[in-house]
Amino acid sequence: MKVVVFSGTVYGAAEDVARHAVARLEAAGHQCVYFRRTALAPLLDAQPDALLGITSTTGLGELPDDLIPLYSELRASLPAALRGLPGAVIGLGDTSYDDSFCGGGELLRELFEELGVEQVQPMLRLDACETVTPETDAEPWVDAFAEQLKARA
Ligand SMILES: Cc1cc2nc3c(=O)[nH]c(=O)nc-3n(C[C@H](O)[C@H](O)[C@H](O)COP(=O)(O)O)c2cc1C
Repeated sequence: MKVVVFSGTVYGAAEDVARHAVARLEAAGHQCVYFRRTALAPLLDAQPDALLGITSTTGLGELPDDLIPLYSELRASLPAALRGLPGAVIGLGDTSYDDSFCGGGELLRELFEELGVEQVQPMLRLDACETVTPETDAEPWVDAFAEQLKARA
């Protein structure tokens, strides 16, 4: 499947997770297009068969600035081309933020619901309090996602 991966980051951890996930999805036989920062048109032009959104959280439960343009455009237009696609979300956060833990990921998860993207596995929440290697911690989840997509190909 052609998996479009996009990320939102402040300090780069979500980008590291995204690049590592791309490598593992490709190793599992999927084709990936990764957008580090994009608008809606390039994402649609890539003609995704599946979506993987990866974002950290900033402020109090907010999305990083680099993801806001795509998030806003997706919410405003809810493109029909994405409806029904399989997808999933990885959220990065820090449990010391209590109620807003992984708030950015939650926003993305809700957006996927609005878009009609079928989330094939529950959002992965990576806690910066628990790990300094989120990209390797995500491996089992990413491998399971790759398998889910294969089953739907
Ligand atoms: C100013 C600031 C605000 C943050 N706010 C939250 C938050 O509200 N909820 C949360 O779960 N994590 C929060 N975090 C933690 C980051 O999301 C976490 O450290 C993440 O791994 C950073 O990933 P990045 O390098 O991709 O930006 C915050 C971090 C900073 C520095």
